[in-house]
Amino acid sequence: MFIRNTWYYAAPARELKAGGMLSKVLLGEPVVFARDADGTPFAMRDLCPHRGVPLSFGRVCPKGEVMDGAALPTAQIECPYHGWRFGPDGRCAAIPSLVEGQEMDVGKIRVRRYPVREIQGALWVWMSDEPVDRPVLDDGAEPDHEPPVMPEVGDRAPALIERQIFDCHTDHAVIGLMDPAHGPYVHKSVFWRSAKSMHAKQKEFGPSEMGFTMLPHPPSKNSKFYKILGGDLTTAIAFRLPGIRTEHITVGDKGHVVGLTAVTPIDENTTEVTQSFYWTLPWLGMLKPMLKPFARRFLGQDRDMVNLQKEGLKHDPRLMLINDADMQAKWYFRLKKAWEDSGQSRAAFENPVKPATLRWRS
Ligand code: FES
Ligand SMILES: [Fe+2]
Repeated sequence: MFIRNTWYYAAPARELKAGGMLSKVLLGEPVVFARDADGTPFAMRDLCPHRGVPLSFGRVCPKGEVMDGAALPTAQIECPYHGWRFGPDGRCAAIPSLVEGQEMDVGKIRVRRYPVREIQGALWVWMSDEPVDRPVLDDGAEPDHEPPVMPEVGDRAPALIERQIFDCHTDHAVIGLMDPAHGPYVHKSVFWRSAKSMHAKQKEFGPSEMGFTMLPHPPSKNSKFYKILGGDLTTAIAFRLPGIRTEHITVGDKGHVVGLTAVTPIDENTTEVTQSFYWTLPWLGMLKPMLKPFARRFLGQDRDMVNLQKEGLKHDPRLMLINDADMQAKWYFRLKKAWEDSGQSRAAFENPVKPATLRWRS
């Protein structure tokens, strides 16, 4: 149903405070994120293996806290029901109800841990295809690749984040994102473009890591956002699995703006779309009060359309993808298929996208 054995965007890193927890359902699985005293994030299944209480209702016992006469070597999450504690690796570290003579190897009790990365102000989580609640869990395979890194912005966090929930399967959110033909209709606000300014376009595409890239080109002249940036602009738009779109705008020799759109399935019918903007242009910060509502409105227009689409999809119609405007959607499905095939056969992933020129009006 969802691509596995890859990284999903989980949340803006600032939402996970030191010593705090953040609970989320991702791909239908309850996950709790926590932070160690030294700032390192970790994550595990948000479900106590004893009697199923969400661990996120407990507390984080910080590294160094003295428990039973000893300082904790790492942070631990304490279940609110009977106080069982779990380390960042998901192993049970303590069962307080045990008395002398009731020795048991508590470390054999495991909660599924989820590898986490914190990069450029974003938390990414590795969603494997391993079962999450076998009686005995092993450590799970380590990730075989890393989450994407936004180009040219160093380790700065996003200057602007806008997030919305779409009531649809993640596939509809993803293909809506890469659909070049809806702009003049869905985003026809004064801030963007109008159907009147439609014209034929031709763009070069090529395969790139886990996806494809619309090769660097001067951006469309009928977009007001690009006008604000001024100067001579080049933009490169990359898509990669599972649902990550990156737009890298180079503003002459003045700097860079990078937009990251991450599509994360919450469950089969709910998708979280998070739009983050990074920039190296200090003056753009002054426009933030204006950009924020713009980003909200823009993303909201996409959300309203997929929510409307849901009304039609209730009747389970057959849908179509046409040339060339829907080619990127076709590539997305091919990429997914190739990813799943490589997972089953344990073979290397082979990118099915070939260099191509696509033409459409928008
Ligand atoms: S349910 Fe968590 S310790 Fe009992
Ligand atoms: Fe859109």
